[in-house]
Amino acid sequence: MKKIIPLIASGMMLLTSSAVSAADIYAEADADSAANVAVSYTAEDLQDLQDFLLAKPSDKDLSGKSYDLNGDGKWDAFDLCLMREKLAEKPNTGGDTIVVYFSRTGNTEKIAEYLIDITGADSYVIEAVEPYSDADIEYNNSDCRANKEQNDKSVRPVIAGEKISLDAYDTVYLGYPIWWGQEPRIIDTFLESYDFSEKTVIPFCTSASSGISTSERNIAALVPIGEQLAGRRFSASASKEDVKKWTESLG
Ligand SMILES: Cc1cc2nc3c(=O)[nH]c(=O)nc-3n(C[C@H](O)[C@H](O)[C@H](O)COP(=O)(O)O)c2cc1C
Repeated sequence: MKKIIPLIASGMMLLTSSAVSAADIYAEADADSAANVAVSYTAEDLQDLQDFLLAKPSDKDLSGKSYDLNGDGKWDAFDLCLMREKLAEKPNTGGDTIVVYFSRTGNTEKIAEYLIDITGADSYVIEAVEPYSDADIEYNNSDCRANKEQNDKSVRPVIAGEKISLDAYDTVYLGYPIWWGQEPRIIDTFLESYDFSEKTVIPFCTSASSGISTSERNIAALVPIGEQLAGRRFSASASKEDVKKWTESLG
């Protein structure tokens, strides 16, 4: 979610000028939002509207969606901002759970967003002070930053922004991509920055094919954790239903 802020800001001018008019197609559904009928939005709605505005190829059918939040007859960046505000105001129904994740190319983020939507949990995005460029993750180049970091277990990339408080949370879902069979070193930075000795940590990851086991062992050995539940590896194409089934299996 945090990541979307600069996107909204920078995309604002671009998107408002080229916004696709949805008035004709979606007039009926948008009557709800225009008439201020209480419409509830999810993180998935936010993603769908953003993808629509960026004209990303998608086979999703958005007809019937109430995305014209300001009732001006079109879907544009202003609606995206309003939706984001509404989501931020949404009461936390996830209770004592937070989904924390690092994602460089969006695969883990997609799974995290499904998880946030399903559980109603709060979320926190781990971002590096020095963001990872495309060159930084060019794993075919043995000298790229990601490879060098993964080759040195003592590296701790600095996390951007203020530390958050985890006091209110008992359960932490921790998501990351697999880099060379392990968790990225910035996950180690995160783990060493907080006290998990009385928390339940549930790792999840995405990868091309590698499993989650090595990273689970690394995490367990790195810091004291109250209880670490078995983690789950997802493919980049995993569906929301897959994530839902997993959360249900956790009880
Ligand atoms: C530096 C680097 C190393 C990777 N190493 C592995 C690996 O060992 N095994 C694997 O299955 N995938 C590997 N991948 C692929 C990523 O795990 C996969 O694309 C993941 O879904 C990316 O998640 P993200 O989009 O959240 O960043 C690697 C990717 C990068 C950039």
